[in-house]
Amino acid sequence: MNETIKMVHHNPKADQGQRTVFNQETAAVASKYHESFPGYQPTPLAALRNLAASLGIAGMYVKDESFRFGLNAFKGLGGSYCLGKYIAGKLGEDISQVDFDKITSPQTRDQVGEITFVTATDGNHGRGIAWTANMLGQKAVVYMPKGSVEERLHNIRKFGAKAEITDMNYDDTVAFASKCAEENGWVLVQDTAWEGYEEIPTWIMQGYTTLAMEAARQLGEVKPTHIFLQAGVGAMSGALAAFFADYYREAKPVITIVEPNKADCIYQTALADDGKLHVVDGDLHTIMAGLACGVPCTIGWNELNRYAENFASIPDWVAAKGMRILGNPAGDDPRVISGESGASTTGFVCEILQNASLEELKKTIGLDEKSVVLCISTEGDTDKENYRSIVWDGKYPSC
Ligand SMILES: Cc1ncc(COP(=O)(O)O)c(C=O)c1O
Repeated sequence: MNETIKMVHHNPKADQGQRTVFNQETAAVASKYHESFPGYQPTPLAALRNLAASLGIAGMYVKDESFRFGLNAFKGLGGSYCLGKYIAGKLGEDISQVDFDKITSPQTRDQVGEITFVTATDGNHGRGIAWTANMLGQKAVVYMPKGSVEERLHNIRKFGAKAEITDMNYDDTVAFASKCAEENGWVLVQDTAWEGYEEIPTWIMQGYTTLAMEAARQLGEVKPTHIFLQAGVGAMSGALAAFFADYYREAKPVITIVEPNKADCIYQTALADDGKLHVVDGDLHTIMAGLACGVPCTIGWNELNRYAENFASIPDWVAAKGMRILGNPAGDDPRVISGESGASTTGFVCEILQNASLEELKKTIGLDEKSVVLCISTEGDTDKENYRSIVWDGKYPSC
């Protein structure tokens, strides 16, 4: 239980003149597409004033993605946008000309024929793909790594997808899904990229920026000084870091990436800083299931290398602490039901600000009484049993 937080400081390698494909314009296109979905609502941005006061900072905002499309996690944004881009391409149209009604119309279905989309996922991405394929009248096949929770499997099957839990870890499951796509003529829709497979992951990452655009609009005049983003393969954090850098320009917030110490491939890559991606092997056993990935996403790392200042590696108890804090708000702060991966960044911020032995890290990040912090709670209680055992029974107590 003596595991503690590690962090490496990094000099962002951004060329200020260069814009990436995750910018305000691409985010506006993704946002417009998502806004055409029935029941679309921006997810709430919780202003945790009492928590900020108790931590000694000026503001603490948490974007609550548990409300996203009724899917309990942000991931559906990427899957739905990527399938939209793919189908728009088949129709010979640009995504900016395509909306929900068009993409789900029987004419579109007739024109593009039957497509099977396949992916490997711990749960949240697969749920988004299954949900979208179901609405489009298309097929989805989802492979999950060993140890995946039955509840998440059930939530994918609910949308008519063929889904199963394999006996492989996440990265081997991705390789397996890729092989199945090749052998069966299916379309691989993976939420990570590698050399030679970058177009679809780019679309998925652009889809994620809808949430960043919403957060920036909700914050309005309030400018965050620090943004904390959790990473599995680093696709979501890469896209959001690039978007926020483009949006805030010279007032770019300090960006800190947070990962579980059992699957800290982005941290290891930043630590080595040798121009290569560094992989973490093994079972990647962590309660932060959505972040249990050992191979960095190529495109994600490119953006993080340009725009992120700090990379942290945290033990499970830090995420558990974040879940308890968000679920039991101070005073009249709104409650955020946040799962293991979702609460990792809030847990990290609270620990850094409350634990005197981490003062050096606090200084490196530059947190002080003027700081305005933005975290994304990327999921709700996607594993309800574990959520209760942590929040009710105190499993994974703070060290
Ligand atoms: C809830 C949750 N948060 C964060 C992430 C991290 O996203 P990425 O793998 O793009 O780093 C995931 C990935 O599945 C997730 O499920």
